Amino acid sequence: MKNPIMPASGTFAEEMAEIIDLNTLGALVTKSVTKSPRMGNKGPRMAETTAGMINAVGIQSKGADALCKNSVPFYAQFASPLIVSISADTAEDFAALAAQVSVPGVDALEVNISCPNLEDDGRSYAMDPHQTHRVISLVRKSTSLPIFAKLTPNANAVADIGLAAEHAGADALVVANTLLAMSINISTRRPSVGNVMGGLSGPCIKPVIVRMVYQTYKKVNIPIIGCGGICSVEDVIEYMLAGASAVQIGTYNFVNPTGMAQIIQDLEEYAIKNGISKITDLVGAVQDDSRDFTGEALAF
Ligand SMILES: Cc1cc2nc3c(=O)[nH]c(=O)nc-3n(C[C@H](O)[C@H](O)[C@H](O)COP(=O)(O)O)c2cc1C
Repeated sequence: MKNPIMPASGTFAEEMAEIIDLNTLGALVTKSVTKSPRMGNKGPRMAETTAGMINAVGIQSKGADALCKNSVPFYAQFASPLIVSISADTAEDFAALAAQVSVPGVDALEVNISCPNLEDDGRSYAMDPHQTHRVISLVRKSTSLPIFAKLTPNANAVADIGLAAEHAGADALVVANTLLAMSINISTRRPSVGNVMGGLSGPCIKPVIVRMVYQTYKKVNIPIIGCGGICSVEDVIEYMLAGASAVQIGTYNFVNPTGMAQIIQDLEEYAIKNGISKITDLVGAVQDDSRDFTGEALAF
């Protein structure tokens, strides 16, 4: 990767090539694809919240054949590596899908074991270390491509889930997907999204996910891709200090579709201005020596 900035799955598609030069991105990440075409959830699929949004798209997908036939060749015209995100309902299906989309032109697979919309009450593979280990082990056996496990912030101990994914053969972690959420329209007294619950994303989740990246970085030895609420170069730096080697930008693409390109430029300027010759020097460089904290902070 020429820089650590890439889009988050589901917030990016081929049409972005009309708006920004995709060659400038660190990597390209597809919307999660399922084996067969999927309609997704009934609407409304999105609702605004304070400093964020709730989505309940429900993995609308054109299917793996269409991805391999159309999207992979389309993205091949750009220099940036292509990461294909996969979603399935069973561990065996995840493995079969991983094999199916491991075609020339695909550089890595992101295993979306975290999407909260697929199963009742937001449960997913990444809620549980054993389930995570099982599905990542099977995917590991079915592809020779690097695999990234995308974790859910709805799990209690995300760092332990990350460790399970690492032990099962994941090459990197994406921390994280959306937080299970709900909002109600008080005029209609109906949930704001058709699926009743959905995933919260945007700046409102950033401090939660920065904390999870920090905790996970202390536990695992594989790289972490931070994802949650990033809207500026300062947010990128914060994630890197917490332990992220790279970042994904999601909701901000809807606010500012050229934002990723601007952040890449800003990151270069930040590095020059601050005398940083190697941006990876920032990874995990937070000064968290407990002596720096006040007694009050420790009491928390
Ligand atoms: C509209 C929408 C669709 C999404 N679809 C997917 C998806 O298909 N697969 C996935 O792993 N994450 C999906 N996500 C989650 C994002 O990739 C990202 O993890 C999350 O939004 C947090 O990042 P952000 O705060 O920068 O948006 C979606 C998010 C949004 C807002």
